[in-house]
Amino acid sequence: MASKHDIHPVAPAPFPVEGPGNAFFSNSRLALTILAVPLVLVVLVGLPLSLYPFVALLTALPSFAAYNVWYCHVAPPIRPQKGLPGAPLDTYMEFKDKDLAAAYGQPTAKIPIEIFFENYFEQKIDVKGDLLDVLEARHDWARFVWSWGQVSFFLTQWIPETLWHSKKQDEDQVREHYDRGDDFYEAFLGPMMVYTSGVMTTTDSRETLEEMQQNKLNMITKKINLKPGDRMLDIGCGWGTLAVHGAKQGANATGLTLAKKQAAWGMGKAAEAGVADRVNILCMDYRDLPKEKFDKITCVEMAEHVGVLRFQTFLLQVREMLEDDGVFYIQVAGLRRSWQYEDLMWGLFMAKYIFPGADASTPLNWFIEQLERAGFEIQSTETLGVHYSATIYRWYSNWLKNKDTIIDKYGVRWFRIWEYFLAYSTIVARQGSATVFSIVCHKNLNSFTRQQWVPRQKWVQG
Ligand SMILES: C[S@@+](CC[C@H](N)C(=O)[O-])C[C@H]1O[C@@H](n2cnc3c(N)ncnc32)[C@H](O)[C@@H]1O
Repeated sequence: MASKHDIHPVAPAPFPVEGPGNAFFSNSRLALTILAVPLVLVVLVGLPLSLYPFVALLTALPSFAAYNVWYCHVAPPIRPQKGLPGAPLDTYMEFKDKDLAAAYGQPTAKIPIEIFFENYFEQKIDVKGDLLDVLEARHDWARFVWSWGQVSFFLTQWIPETLWHSKKQDEDQVREHYDRGDDFYEAFLGPMMVYTSGVMTTTDSRETLEEMQQNKLNMITKKINLKPGDRMLDIGCGWGTLAVHGAKQGANATGLTLAKKQAAWGMGKAAEAGVADRVNILCMDYRDLPKEKFDKITCVEMAEHVGVLRFQTFLLQVREMLEDDGVFYIQVAGLRRSWQYEDLMWGLFMAKYIFPGADASTPLNWFIEQLERAGFEIQSTETLGVHYSATIYRWYSNWLKNKDTIIDKYGVRWFRIWEYFLAYSTIVARQGSATVFSIVCHKNLNSFTRQQWVPRQKWVQG
């Protein structure tokens, strides 16, 4: 099964079209709506003008939501959409539910993306063929508009969770997710159990997932200039693969995760590799880390879970734990600033099903601003989105190969949720909707020896 996914280094884009997005979105019109709606209400109802601020408070969020819902219905695509197959909806899917068939059965109908995926998970829709192929043609059959389910999720779950991020909330969300079962994750991550982007060294040949992850581990230890004897901390270490890799290179590695099964797995792998005496995997919240100092700190796609609200405090904590001549490597999944509506719809799906509470996924400038404010100097930053697409493409292929085993143990719903996540994320990372930033930084102190970076700034050496 899924042999066709083994052919390409990166999934090819058969219909690279642009959707509607921020090109015509006007912040000033949005602000005007938020200010004008309460004024109109006050005048129409005949309330005293002094009540305007209270009415404005009550109507701000609904006005914001209404403006956005209206805009996504009227926004034109950023470029004219040429080259799509122009096929009717039933070329791509079959409705198993009569209400859905009645609503979207006409040849020219398009289905809101959230209605599609929720009903696909419930088996009220089946797709015809491979889900990745069907999603590649999504602009033919889907509408990227807010549906009621997404508005309600955004207002009742996403906003309150983003504004809270207590230890309890993080523990519940993160543990529930990562402790689902190691076999669930192994079914797509493969034996290395690395749940972050790998790195291709070439687009000419098809590197395996394992080769790409090995490249990534080596890239990180090179970027931080890891040396034998270094005290290394990997915050959000997953199944401990980077910590064990660091220990194999002679470092004393501490890993940190909130998930019990990940910690146990990591210690098992350290023992297998004969480096258990140099690896310590802690299972606790990052806010409870003992106050120790480290020469090198890495944080590979964990900071998203910290959330926007607590991000600066988190970075100050990292700075406190880092030696003055230490290096901090942070890899974070981010989003593009010039967004399209499908980016938003994909992001809300991810927040609901895949990484709940991981709201610190932003455009690059926000991460840079946060790091600089916390007293870091950025040494380098690279955008690895296309590497992520290639990685997720391989995860998708693995997932399909393990379909029957996953369905037997976890059921069709979980299989389909992850199938959709992996297929769509292959596309989303390839086209730049979401990406991953690989950032190397250090304390911005006068005494830091910046000369150490010169040998790796290869572009000046021809
Ligand atoms: C996407 S995984 C990345 C795993 C790993 N860095 C890798 O490359 O495979 C995110 C990790 O962050 C950890 N994490 C999330 N929130 C955390 C918190 N509040 N405290 C400690 N670890 C946390 C999770 O337990 C998980 O191991």
